[in-house]
Amino acid sequence: MVPHASDQHLRRLPKVELHCHVEGASRATTIKALADRHGVALPVSDPADLYDFSSLNQFLGIYDIICACLRTADDFRRITYEALEDGANAGVRYREMFFSPGFVIRLGVPVATVWEGVRAGLLEARHDLDIHARMILDFDKPTGPAHAMEMAAFAGAQDRDLLVGIGADSVERDIDHRSFAAAFAEAGRLGLRRTIHAGEDGPADNIAVAVHELGCERIDHGFRLLDDPDLTAEVIDRQIPLTVCPTSNVVIGNVVADVASHPLARQRELGVLATVNSDDPGMMRFDIADEYVAVAQAFDYSLDDMETISLAGIEASWAPDDEKSALRHRFVAEFDALRQEYGLPTRG
Ligand code: ADE
Ligand code: ZN
Repeated sequence: MVPHASDQHLRRLPKVELHCHVEGASRATTIKALADRHGVALPVSDPADLYDFSSLNQFLGIYDIICACLRTADDFRRITYEALEDGANAGVRYREMFFSPGFVIRLGVPVATVWEGVRAGLLEARHDLDIHARMILDFDKPTGPAHAMEMAAFAGAQDRDLLVGIGADSVERDIDHRSFAAAFAEAGRLGLRRTIHAGEDGPADNIAVAVHELGCERIDHGFRLLDDPDLTAEVIDRQIPLTVCPTSNVVIGNVVADVASHPLARQRELGVLATVNSDDPGMMRFDIADEYVAVAQAFDYSLDDMETISLAGIEASWAPDDEKSALRHRFVAEFDALRQEYGLPTRG
């Protein structure tokens, strides 16, 4: 019989996470404390009620409220460290995590302040916790191409071991993704890795633009990929990874009714290098361990399947080759140790 894993086993399974936003990972209690400190009025009295949304636009409105509470480098240090602490508790051993300075730049907080704090939180977490992280600077699509170019230049000037790449988030509707070609070209010239939120609430054509015109090496979400068979074949052939966030597509994007109806299983059957991620675990109150449980249940995936999904995260990551190889060895050893502990046969 093919073994299935318990929820506790899946929580402890070593994982990689490649699609997780530091602001969206923030704890409601921390945002409430920072709001009080900075005299920001929140629209709710109970911080638990802060994270209540049912569409991407509503979600982004609450994202704005969170970001209005982030004023100092120390605020960013704190949310970065806490996000990594929470990730480690969900079994994440390696994470490439987004931060989105566009939301606070428009409130007068310089990107250098944001990065000072994020960098400090990242280094502290590397020292204290069993999770190794790098950051990806996401520019805000609606703020436009000049902001994108400014963010590419800023990211390009930082330590590549800490800030590994550039991405872009927020809505797709009414956005011309081609307008970011120059910013992505500059990012590539500066040696940054490139990704973008595409095909989440927008069409597969946005994925095609990302792959063919923006030089993106990874696609965040890619929910609509299978709408375009030729593009799907190319993404499979080139093994361009998708950072899939199934529950986010249900509760934030509102583009699919439930995880069981998500195209993740079909993408994997076809040979897409699809990874599983949480997106905004704080705001969703649903971390990557919960996501692994949801995916295993929805698709009746065995423990072998879930271990394979975990290893796909290593493959899709931007860690150096020697680090990837060390992660693979470590993960396989941990898979075996967990199987032994839970009385399951060794991996097939
Ligand atoms: N920012 C944080 N999460 C996001 C998502 N799912 N889509 C677009 N922008 C985001
Ligand atoms: Zn996202």
